Amino acid sequence: MDTKVVRIDESHREEASIREAGAIIKAGGLVAFPTETVYGLGGDALNPASSRKIYEAKGRPSDNPLIVHIADMDALPAIVKSVPETAEKLADAFWPGPLTMIMEKSDLVPKETTGGLDTVAVRMPSDAAALSFIRAAGGYVAAPSANRSGRPSPTRASYVAEDMEGRIEMILDGGDATLGLESTIVDLTAEPPVILRPGFITAEMLRQKLGCVEVDETLFSADSGQAPKAPGMKYRHYAPKGELIIVKGAAEAVTDYINKELAEGRKNRKKTGVIATDETVDSYCADVLRSVGKRADAAAAAKGLYRILREFDDEGVELIYSESLDGEGVSQAVMNRLLKAAGHRVIELK
Ligand code: TXA
Ligand code: MG
Repeated sequence: MDTKVVRIDESHREEASIREAGAIIKAGGLVAFPTETVYGLGGDALNPASSRKIYEAKGRPSDNPLIVHIADMDALPAIVKSVPETAEKLADAFWPGPLTMIMEKSDLVPKETTGGLDTVAVRMPSDAAALSFIRAAGGYVAAPSANRSGRPSPTRASYVAEDMEGRIEMILDGGDATLGLESTIVDLTAEPPVILRPGFITAEMLRQKLGCVEVDETLFSADSGQAPKAPGMKYRHYAPKGELIIVKGAAEAVTDYINKELAEGRKNRKKTGVIATDETVDSYCADVLRSVGKRADAAAAAKGLYRILREFDDEGVELIYSESLDGEGVSQAVMNRLLKAAGHRVIELK
């Protein structure tokens, strides 16, 4: 299959391309499209054959449910048993935007789309091209992130092409994703609601609207002994090919420790890399150095993290050390993805 790549920021071609992309979805094909978080791999959410194709193109286990993307609030009632009041409140405040809500599904949504579950994850993205595309596609687009299973989620069209060339009909290229990390997922079928994946819509923001909201306790620990509630969070995601280790502690101690370990790695002829911040990046000796931005700028770290992980793969880096990027708010989402990429390997310096 030839994968057609179309730029969609040239206004004179935009409308025709979006119509073409919509027609592909309606005919049961797959189109990757930009959203404000990461690129999605879209298919018709109401067509079981399309969902099966998505799993196949991604190389993803079919027990891992897909998010259904909508463009209008009017589209919601048909795919859920009933619209909970909590969903109305959150939609008012955060849709369109980087928030996915889990609700009881209606019979219209096939089990192929929900990985066999009776619940459905729904999101209304804010990207204008995404919204036009969803409407052109009939209103319900099932889309996981457009990476092959086990690779970092793609934040630009060329990364989608790396993973999906020849596997899907079309890629809509809308440039770099503005946020760079996947949406917050909140399960509204639980009482109280529980966050299954942290993102730009933080726990604090959700609590301001709903009162008590819990956080899935498996998100930040390697050994809680419990399976995560979002099936996808149990798979080793976002993993670079090299070994990635996070080092926590006082700034100077971390730099010293990492430099010592890097020297050891180089002695063993390993290609080395570091993920650091603007404040510290110049103090490391490694083959490939990357800064996620200023230490206080969690949004910059979110935007750059997946690109950096892919760059380490491209450079063939074998041993990567990262400073810990923990903190409040959006940092929680960044740290959750970094921990997953590292398979929870963390060294804590006293
Ligand atoms: O920002 C995003 O959410 C991106 C863009 C494309 O919208 N999409 C995305 O999809 O990240 P995906 O499939 O890569 O991640 C969806 C996560 C998975 O961990 C999946 O297990 C979980 O959502 N999920 C989906 N439906 C669920 C359900 N009914 N119950 C629990 N978890 C669910
Ligand atoms: Mg994903």
